[in-house]
Amino acid sequence: MVISYSCSAGSKMTWILSLLFILAAATQVHGVSLPGFLSIDCGWTNGTSYDDNKNTTLTYVSDKEFVEGGKSYNIMAQYIEGATNEQEKTLRSFPDGQRNCYTLPTSIDKKYLIRATFTYGNYDGLNSSENGSLFLFGLHIGVNFWTMVNLTKWGSSNTIWKEVITIASDTNTSVCLINLGSGTPFISTLDLRKLDDAMFRFLNRSISLSYFTRKRFGSVDDLITRYPHDSVDRFWEAAKRYSFPWLNLTTAQKVNRLPGNDDFQVPSEILQKASTINRNFSWLNISVRASDNIDYRSLELLPIFHFAEIDGNSPNRTFDIYDDDNLLFSNYTPPPFRVDSTYNSSRFLRKKGVLFTLRKTASSDLPPLINAYEVYSLVRMENSTTSSDDVNHMKDIKKYYSLARNWNGDPCSPREYSWQGLSCNYANGNKIPSIISVDLSASGLIGTLHDSFMKMTSLEKLDLSQNNLTGGIPDYQLNSLRVLDLSNNQLDGPISDSVLQRFKAGQLELRLEGNPICSIVKEKYCSNKKNRTPIVLIAVLVPVVFILLVVLVCILWRLCWKGKSGEQEDYSLYEEETPLHIDIRRFTYAELKLITNNFQTIIGKGGFGTVYHGILENNDEVAVKVLVETSIAESKDFLPEVQTLSKVHHKNLVALVGYCQNKKCLALVYDFMPRGNLQQLLRGGYDNSLNWEERLHIALDAAQGLEYLHGSCTPSIVHRDVKTPNILLDKNLVAKISDFGLSRAFNAAYTHISTVAAGTLGYLDPEYHATFQLTVKTDVYSFGIVLLEIVTGQPPVFMDPQTIHLPNWVRQKIAKGSIHDVVDKKLLDQYDATHLQTVIDLAMNCLENASIDRPSMTEVVSVLKLCLPISSERQSATSTPRKKNVMDAEIPRQFQLMISGGSTTSYEGSSFQSGYTGGVSEISHISGR
Ligand SMILES: *[C@@H]1O[C@H](CO)[C@@H](O)[C@H](O)[C@H]1NC(C)=O
Ligand SMILES: *[C@@H]1O[C@H](CO)[C@@H](O)[C@H](O)[C@H]1NC(C)=O
Ligand SMILES: *[C@@H]1O[C@H](CO)[C@@H](O)[C@H](O)[C@H]1NC(C)=O
Ligand SMILES: *[C@@H]1O[C@H](CO)[C@@H](O)[C@H](O)[C@H]1NC(C)=O
Ligand SMILES: *[C@@H]1O[C@H](CO)[C@@H](O)[C@H](O)[C@H]1NC(C)=O
Ligand SMILES: *[C@@H]1O[C@H](CO)[C@@H](O)[C@H](O)[C@H]1NC(C)=O
Repeated sequence: MVISYSCSAGSKMTWILSLLFILAAATQVHGVSLPGFLSIDCGWTNGTSYDDNKNTTLTYVSDKEFVEGGKSYNIMAQYIEGATNEQEKTLRSFPDGQRNCYTLPTSIDKKYLIRATFTYGNYDGLNSSENGSLFLFGLHIGVNFWTMVNLTKWGSSNTIWKEVITIASDTNTSVCLINLGSGTPFISTLDLRKLDDAMFRFLNRSISLSYFTRKRFGSVDDLITRYPHDSVDRFWEAAKRYSFPWLNLTTAQKVNRLPGNDDFQVPSEILQKASTINRNFSWLNISVRASDNIDYRSLELLPIFHFAEIDGNSPNRTFDIYDDDNLLFSNYTPPPFRVDSTYNSSRFLRKKGVLFTLRKTASSDLPPLINAYEVYSLVRMENSTTSSDDVNHMKDIKKYYSLARNWNGDPCSPREYSWQGLSCNYANGNKIPSIISVDLSASGLIGTLHDSFMKMTSLEKLDLSQNNLTGGIPDYQLNSLRVLDLSNNQLDGPISDSVLQRFKAGQLELRLEGNPICSIVKEKYCSNKKNRTPIVLIAVLVPVVFILLVVLVCILWRLCWKGKSGEQEDYSLYEEETPLHIDIRRFTYAELKLITNNFQTIIGKGGFGTVYHGILENNDEVAVKVLVETSIAESKDFLPEVQTLSKVHHKNLVALVGYCQNKKCLALVYDFMPRGNLQQLLRGGYDNSLNWEERLHIALDAAQGLEYLHGSCTPSIVHRDVKTPNILLDKNLVAKISDFGLSRAFNAAYTHISTVAAGTLGYLDPEYHATFQLTVKTDVYSFGIVLLEIVTGQPPVFMDPQTIHLPNWVRQKIAKGSIHDVVDKKLLDQYDATHLQTVIDLAMNCLENASIDRPSMTEVVSVLKLCLPISSERQSATSTPRKKNVMDAEIPRQFQLMISGGSTTSYEGSSFQSGYTGGVSEISHISGR
C-alpha cells in the first residue's frame, strides 16, 4: 500500500495524551529552569511564572519583561476547554505598530534554537483564520526576515510552530512580529534554547536555519518527542503509523555518536527506532513538500538524514539516496549502532517539494532503513543591526523621557521598519547602519537635554523644538552634529563654550528662539532672522509654483481626457463586435456552416451541446461544439471565459482554435482529436484496447493537464467535470483535457434556475456535495475515479449485481481476493505488477473523503512519473506494445512513503490540531518548514 500520512494532525494528540498522563499521575512535578532555557508564555498574566504541568516539567514565565506594547488575551472559552497545554490558552496580540518585538537575552556568538507558537483560538471573535480572508503576518529574527505565519483557512484551535536556529550577534536577540496589513499579529509561546557550540557547525552569523520538518521513525507512541527526551527540546514528530510493507525496527542497545560528530546530537532514544520495508521491496520514498500556505519560492531546503543500523545481526544493507532524479549519496551503509547524519551543507534544494528515494543497491541483502530526518530552510541574515552604541543611546533617551513611541526592535534596520523620527545612514554598503538624524520635535519632552544625544557619533541633525526642555546646553563633544534645533523650549541655562564656538565657526546651525534664555542673550541663534528670508521666499514661491502646477495639470488632464473620450467612442463602436480582446479566431455562423459542411457529421453530444466535425480552409480538422441555446448566450460569462481559455495553452489541454458568438450561434472550435475520448477507448473491444503503458501515459497526460489548470493559471481553473469522456486522444494517443472552464460559464448562467452540481454522477466529490466548496481537490477526486477506470476498465458506477460505485468495488475486490482481481481483463495479465499497487494507492488517495487528505495534481504527476520508465518513448499507436508479465520475478517490487503536503492542515512548521481522524486514511500528508 502506498503510505503517506498526516503528521500535521498529530501534535495535539500528544499533548492531550501527556496531559491525561499527568493528571493520572497526580504527582506535582517540579518545574525545571535549565541554564540556557527560557520559556515564555505570551499573554500570561497570572503571576510571574508557573511550572508546566506537562511532561516537559519546564518553568514558563510571563512575557511582561520581554516585550512592550501589545495586549494579552485568552483564546475563546470553547477552545480553552479543549486546550491541551497551558501556553496555548493565552496570547499577546499587537494591533498597533508595524513591528513589535520581543527581546530575548542571549550571549554573543552562542547558538540558539528559538521557537514561536501561534494558537489563534478566535481570541478576538473575528474568526480571522477561518473566514476565508487572508490572515498572515511576518516574523523577523533580529533585523532579518525569518518566515511568514500564514493562518489563512486555518482551524482556530490549531497551533502553528516556527523554529529558527541562529547565532546571537548581540547580548540580546529580538523576535519581531510584522504587521503586513492582513490581520493582527499575535503570539502564544516563545522558547529560547541554547545549543551546544559543536552543533550545527555550518551555521554562521549570516546563515540561520528555519525549521521545515523533523520526523522520527519506528514504533513511536508520542506524536511529539521533546524535552526531556531531547535535551535541547527540539520537536520530533512521529512519522505516522503505517502498515505493511513498512516494518518497525527497535533495539534496546544504545546508539552512539561517531566520535567528533556532535553536529546534531540526536537523542539515542530516537535512533533506537527505525523503519524499514519488507525484503520483497527495494525502495522507499519520502516526499517533502511545502503546503499551500507557504511561499515556496523563498525556500532553500537543506535535508539532513539520520541513519543507524539497529539490526543486531550485522546485516548487509546498502542503498543509494536520490533527491528527485539526482543521486545524493551512493552505496550508503548505515554504521551499526552509531548514528551517521548525511547532509550536504553546500547544496540547497530550491523547489516546492522534493521526492527522496532510498533505493537498495544490487549487492545489498536488505532494503533501506531510516531512523530520522530533518529539513531546514535557509534564512539569510543579510541585514546588519544598528551600531549598538547608537541603539543604547536611543534606548536611554526613550527611557529618560518616557517616550510612548512604538520604538521597537532595531532603530534603523530593516529600512522599512526604522523608528519613526530617525533617519539612518546605510550608505556604507554592508557596514552597520548608523543614526544621522533625530526628530523629536513636539514630543512632549520634559527635563534637561540628555547627554546621550551628543554621544551619538554619527548624528548630524537633532530637532528637539517645541518641547518643555529646561536647563542649559552642557559642554558636549559635538562629533558630527551640524544642526541643533532647540527652539520653543524652556531652556534658561548657560550655553557651553564648545557649542558656541562651533556655532561661531559656522560649523553648527543652532536655533534657540522661543526659549527664556533668549530674553537675556540677543545672539543670532535667538532670532531666526537668518531663516526668515527663505521662509518669506518660500511663502511667495510655493503658491506661485502651486498655481502653475494646477494650471499645468488642468491642461494635461483636458488633453488626456479629450484623447480618452475619442478612444472611448472608437472602443464602444468596437464593442458591438468584440467587447474583449480575444486572440483567437472569431467565426461567423456562415463560416461554421461551411467548415462543418452544413453541420453534417456529429462526433459527440454532451451537456453543453453537440459537437460537429469540421475542416478549415487549410485542411486542419476541427471539432465545432455548438452550445445549446440557452441563457448562456446572454450570459456575461461566456466571452470572458473564452478569453481565459484562449490564453490557456498546454500540450495536455485541447487547444481552442476559435469561437462564434452572435444571435445566430454560440460555438467553440477546438482541435480535432482523432482517437476520440478515453471512455470510448476503455469501453471498446479487445481489438484496439490500450496496453498498460499507454494507459499510464494517458493518466500522466491527463494529470499534467489538470496540474497546469490548477497550478499555472491565475486564478487556478477548476475543471469541475473531470471524467473519461472529457479526456480526448490525438492520433499519437496523447491525452488532452477538454471542456475545462466551460462549466463555470455554464453554471453561472444557470445558478438562478437550478443548482447544477459540478461534475457528473460517479465522479462527484463527496465533500463538494456536502459543502459546495469548489476547490482544485474536487478535480483530484474525479481524477481518482478516472484512474480507477483506466486500471479496471469499469465505468464509475455499474451493476454488480447491485449498483456499486467503482471505488467500493475495488475495495471489495481487494479485500476478498487480490489486487490483481481489479485489473482490466482486456490487459490479458500483461501489466507491470509493481506499479499496479502504486497506481491503485494513488487513486485511493485521490478519493479520500476529506479534500485536504487528497494529494495535489503535482503530487499525482510525480507519482505517475515514477511508474513510467524514464526513457520510455511513447508507443506510437501502431507499434507493437511492449508487454510485461505479471509473473516476471525480476521486477523489483517497490513501495513508497509519501510525506507530502499541499493541504491546509499540513503546514510549514507543522501543527497540532484537534479533530484528528487518524485511522480513516492510511494516506495523508506532511509538509512544513
Ligand atoms: C510523562 O511522564 C511520566 C513520568 O515521568 C512518564 O512515565 C510518561 O511516559 C510520560 N509521558 C509522556 C507522554 O511523555
Ligand atoms: C491564577 O493562579 C492561581 C494560583 O496560582 C489560581 O488559583 C487561579 O485560578 C489562577 N487564575 C487564573 C485566571 O488562571
Ligand atoms: C534587508 O533589508 C532590506 C531593506 O530593508 C529588505 O528589503 C530585505 O528584505 C532585508 N533582508 C532580509 C533577509 O530580511
Ligand atoms: C509500527 O509502529 C507504529 C506505531 O507504534 C504502529 O502503528 C504500526 O502499526 C507499526 N507497524 C507495523 C508494520 O507493525
Ligand atoms: C497563505 O495561505 C493561503 C491559504 O493556504 C494561500 O492561498 C496563500 O497564498 C498563502 N500566502 C502566502 C504569502 O504564503
Ligand atoms: C552483501 O551480500 C551480497 C550477496 O549476498 C554480496 O555480493 C556482497 O558482497 C555483500 N556485501 C557485503 C558488504 O558483505
